[in-house]
Amino acid sequence: MSITDNYNQIIARLIDDIDNKTTDQAPGSMQVPTTAYTDADIWQREMDLIFKKVPVFVALTQEIPNPGDYKTMQFLDKPLLITRLKDGTARVMLNVCPHRAMAVADKPCGNQSRFTCPYHGWMFTNDGTLRGVADQPKFGDFDKQANGLHQLPVYERSGMIFTVLEADGEVDFDGFLGGIMEDVGRLGMDKWHYCGKREIFGANWKIAYDGYLEGYHFAAAHPDTIAQRTFSNVMEFGAYGPHTLICFPHLAIKEKLADVPPDEYHQHENNGYDWIRTLFPNVSIFVAPEITMISQIIPGPKPNQNTTYLNFIHPSKPVDNDAELETMMDWLRDVVDTEDYHVGLAIQKGLEAHAFNNVTFGRNERGNQLFHKYVDWYLANDPNAAKPEL
Ligand code: FES
Ligand SMILES: [Fe+2]
Repeated sequence: MSITDNYNQIIARLIDDIDNKTTDQAPGSMQVPTTAYTDADIWQREMDLIFKKVPVFVALTQEIPNPGDYKTMQFLDKPLLITRLKDGTARVMLNVCPHRAMAVADKPCGNQSRFTCPYHGWMFTNDGTLRGVADQPKFGDFDKQANGLHQLPVYERSGMIFTVLEADGEVDFDGFLGGIMEDVGRLGMDKWHYCGKREIFGANWKIAYDGYLEGYHFAAAHPDTIAQRTFSNVMEFGAYGPHTLICFPHLAIKEKLADVPPDEYHQHENNGYDWIRTLFPNVSIFVAPEITMISQIIPGPKPNQNTTYLNFIHPSKPVDNDAELETMMDWLRDVVDTEDYHVGLAIQKGLEAHAFNNVTFGRNERGNQLFHKYVDWYLANDPNAAKPEL
C-alpha cells in the first residue's frame, strides 16, 4: 500500500471513530510490571540491548547544514562529536582524544574544520584524522594513522542523522527504520531550517515515551492546551515495525474534511487532524504549521531519569532574534515540561512506592502496548522470536 493510501485509510477510520464514539483498540489490555520502570538491571539491559544496538537519532541534517558545522552531545556513556565534511557527508565520532581521553571539542556546537584538544593541543581534522601530536619529538613515537577519533556508523536519511553506539557488525538500517523514514521523508525536512532546541528533565525513559504514544490523557492533563484543539481519547494507529504513526483528530475534523474526497484526506495534515510519528526507542515527531517539534529522549544517567531535547525545525528560515519564535519554543517546552514531564516525575514516585505490581495499558492504549512488547522482544535477545505486531 502506498504511504498516502495508508494515511487515507487511517484518517477514514478516525472519522468513523468520531461518528461511532470509539477509538482504535487492541484486542485486550496489557500489564507491565512496575519494576520495568524502576529496576537498575532491567534499565541496564535496555541500554545494552536496545539503545546501544539499534540506530539512534543524534542530529538533524539542518543542525549541521554547512561544511565545518559540528555538534557535540552526551548520549548515555558516549560523548559524541557530529561533523559535516567538505564533501557534504556527516561523521559521527566519539569525542575522546586518543592521548588521554579529553573531549576534543568542548563546545555544544560551532563551525571549524579542525579541532585542537584543549588538554595538550593534539590536532584533528573534522573527519577525525589525527594530524598533529604536540611536540612529537619529546612525546615519542605515536601511530597517527591508527589513532584518529573513534568512528561510529552514520546514516543520514530524510533530514535526520543516526548512529549506532555499539554496533555488532553490520547494521540493517533499512530493515529497522526504512519504512518510517520513507514516511518521514515525505515531509522534506532535509531542506527545512533549524530553529533551536530546549532541554527538559524527566523520569524513566519509558514513562516519557509512553506519554507520546496516547491521547487518552489529553482531557485530564492538557485541558487548556491540546484538548482545546484535539479530541481526547480518540486515535488511530499505524506501525512500521516498532515505529508508529498516530493520528489525532481535531475537534473540527468533521467540518474540515466534510467536502474532501477520501483519497485526498492525506493532504489535510494539521487541518482536521495531526500526526505523531514515533521512532523507536526514543523519538517523537510532531509536525505543526507554526513549528515542528522533534523530541529526543536520552535515558539516564540514573534509571529513573531522562534528559529530553525538544528540537524545533520549520520549512521557512527563521529571522535572527525572532522573539515570537523563541516564545513559541518556550511555550511548547513549558507544555511538555509542566503538563507531561511533571506528571512523569510523579508517576516515577508512584512506581517506586511499589503500591502495585503492575501498571495497565487499556485497549485504547495500543501504541503503548506495541512499544512495551517491543522492549520485551529486545530484552529477550532472541532474533528468532516472532516480532510483535500492532
Ligand atoms: S588528552 Fe588530548 S592532547 Fe592530551
Ligand atoms: Fe501529553
